[in-house]
Amino acid sequence: MAVEGGNPEQGVGEERFVGSKRPSDIRGMFHDISPTYDFLNHLLSLNIDRRWRRFVARNVMTGNPARVLDVCAGTGDLAIELTNEARRCGFATKVTASDFTPSMMRRGKNKFEQMEGGDEIPRAMVADTMRLPFSTGTFDLATVAFGIRNVTDVGAGLAEMARVCRVGGRVAVLEFSQPRNRLIAWCYNRYFFGVLPWVGRLISGSRAYTYLPKSVAKFPDGEEFSRLLSQATGGEVTRHPLTFGVATLYLSIVAER
Ligand SMILES: C[S@@+](CC[C@H](N)C(=O)[O-])C[C@H]1O[C@@H](n2cnc3c(N)ncnc32)[C@H](O)[C@@H]1O
Repeated sequence: MAVEGGNPEQGVGEERFVGSKRPSDIRGMFHDISPTYDFLNHLLSLNIDRRWRRFVARNVMTGNPARVLDVCAGTGDLAIELTNEARRCGFATKVTASDFTPSMMRRGKNKFEQMEGGDEIPRAMVADTMRLPFSTGTFDLATVAFGIRNVTDVGAGLAEMARVCRVGGRVAVLEFSQPRNRLIAWCYNRYFFGVLPWVGRLISGSRAYTYLPKSVAKFPDGEEFSRLLSQATGGEVTRHPLTFGVATLYLSIVAER
């Protein structure tokens, strides 16, 4: 099963990648967990991840966008939600999904091919979010779900997402964030740092699920992340906290360049 583009597919020794943001280590980590990625996503989030992506699709698929790009698309779940939402609204939107880990994208492509609707299924391609192979202003909307945190240079990734959008287009980021309520944060962190890495390792055989809470704890959220996104788009950012603030949808309009 071929996907467009072509990066070498390499797994790496697991001790190398934990905490590393080298592209080869990140790609190796996602390659290693790709067979169990979807199962663990839904299990560890008690299926809430599906609701979050659906919420994103409902909120961003407005104004009949002709072309949408989902970066760091992984196994394609957000691209599928965006496509389904477009169909629901009667839009003829073309959705492109890109990711730099071929084995993740291949799983996405398999899922796209099982969707009904022929021409309207998302297009899958292998591409680095820090160097997107599209001309400036190609898309009406660029999205990313739980991916930007893993990009080696977050500012460069956001700037690329903004660049490939037209002026007036939008960039949408769904990312984990810290719940602001102390009791909820305490309960959540016990689960996130205690239970999740253990279950994740048991099922995937990988320490990627130790990396996950650590990477979230280090990643900017709320106002701080909004500033980063605003620097990239030149526009203001609106925030939609989800499930007590465990995740947040950030939305920004691309301003005149
Ligand atoms: C946690 S997964 C998220 C996948 C999907 N968006 C979802 O909602 O489940 C992060 C994805 O980001 C991809 N990724 C990380 N850095 C990247 C980069 N620089 N360019 C493209 N993809 C990248 C990884 O390959 C991985 O598939």
